[in-house]
Amino acid sequence: MLRFGIVGTGRISDWVMAGAAQDPRIKVTAVCSRSVENAEAFIRRHAIAVGAKAYTSVAEMAADPCVDAIYIGTPNQTHCDYALTCLAAGKHVLCEKPLAVNAGEGRRMADAARERGCLLMEAMVSTLNPNFRLVADRVDEVAPVRHYTSSFCQYSSKYEALKKGIVASAFHPLYAGALRDIGIYTLYPMVSLFGKPESVHADVTTFPTPEGPVDVHGSLSFKYPGMTASLVYSKVCDSFVPTEIAGEKGNLLLDEVHIARNARLVPHGAPTSGQGPKAKGETLSEGLPCNEYFYEFKEFADVLESGRRESSVNSLETSLTVLEIIDQVLG
Ligand SMILES: NC(=O)c1ccc[n+]([C@@H]2O[C@H](COP(=O)([O-])OP(=O)(O)OC[C@H]3O[C@@H](n4cnc5c(N)ncnc54)[C@H](OP(=O)(O)O)[C@@H]3O)[C@@H](O)[C@H]2O)c1
Repeated sequence: MLRFGIVGTGRISDWVMAGAAQDPRIKVTAVCSRSVENAEAFIRRHAIAVGAKAYTSVAEMAADPCVDAIYIGTPNQTHCDYALTCLAAGKHVLCEKPLAVNAGEGRRMADAARERGCLLMEAMVSTLNPNFRLVADRVDEVAPVRHYTSSFCQYSSKYEALKKGIVASAFHPLYAGALRDIGIYTLYPMVSLFGKPESVHADVTTFPTPEGPVDVHGSLSFKYPGMTASLVYSKVCDSFVPTEIAGEKGNLLLDEVHIARNARLVPHGAPTSGQGPKAKGETLSEGLPCNEYFYEFKEFADVLESGRRESSVNSLETSLTVLEIIDQVLG
């Protein structure tokens, strides 16, 4: 049994509980909120947390011997301090994306995890999604890869408030913004598949806030040896463009990179233009058997069960490279 403490009782912590509940190895034994009432209400609304203890201090929860691991579901600027507190107490940490606000914070967290022999993993759903894994496993079939393109654009429900000067945590210019909040879902899979790029070119659109301009939309171009990549992300418009890995021997496609529900392989030579039939290729998978957040808890529990202290899929190296790119783009 893996006994979790949960930090933060907001929307995302509610969402991930549905995934955690599908792994019978996981139980929630503690919940930490800035208000004891919120912690108690969270415990009442999640069956997986029946009997959990309510805390208002992360340090106190981290000292609880009935807690093995801690999920951090609070705003980005809290990730580093909370993770360091939990790691110092010898607890494993599953931390929401982005792992930290910048690469410096991320490195401190990674160093602390290695020193304490604890697992620290970024809760990046996209790369653990089984449809993404199918595509990742078949990249060699379309190689050499010439281009990766991905977009995740979602008009934010909090944009209307931003226009009135109300800055939600996802729009905080120093700690969040569109790249950290949503663009990361296109960037993290790219780094996971192809590693660190040789160069990056960024075009970013900002919106003024009382705390300074925040990035709300952007387009990034990358150069790798023999290939290029382009990403588009936005919190101020929608997009329905799929994610694609284009290689000399064919193309791999995902309907949505954030939570992929359909994966396809179109071998080179299938009809692609003109009046003839359109290329359909092979459907590799359709749908998701489990809740989208189940897979991050499964990976976390699998890594610990096997005696390892780092995920080979959501590795610290990938998280840190992603943070370095974000630093470079946002300056
Ligand atoms: N994986 C995904 O699909 C996904 C989706 C959305 C967000 N996220 C990530 O989840 C994290 C939280 O995002 P969010 O939009 O849910 O944030 P949020 O609503 O602003 O905050 C989430 C919770 O954190 C606590 N909190 C709020 N402000 C805090 C502060 N200043 N210090 C400490 N705790 C605070 C609150 O819980 P209490 O009242 O209980 O303290 C709040 O309900 C971010 O890192 C974000 O990137 C992930």
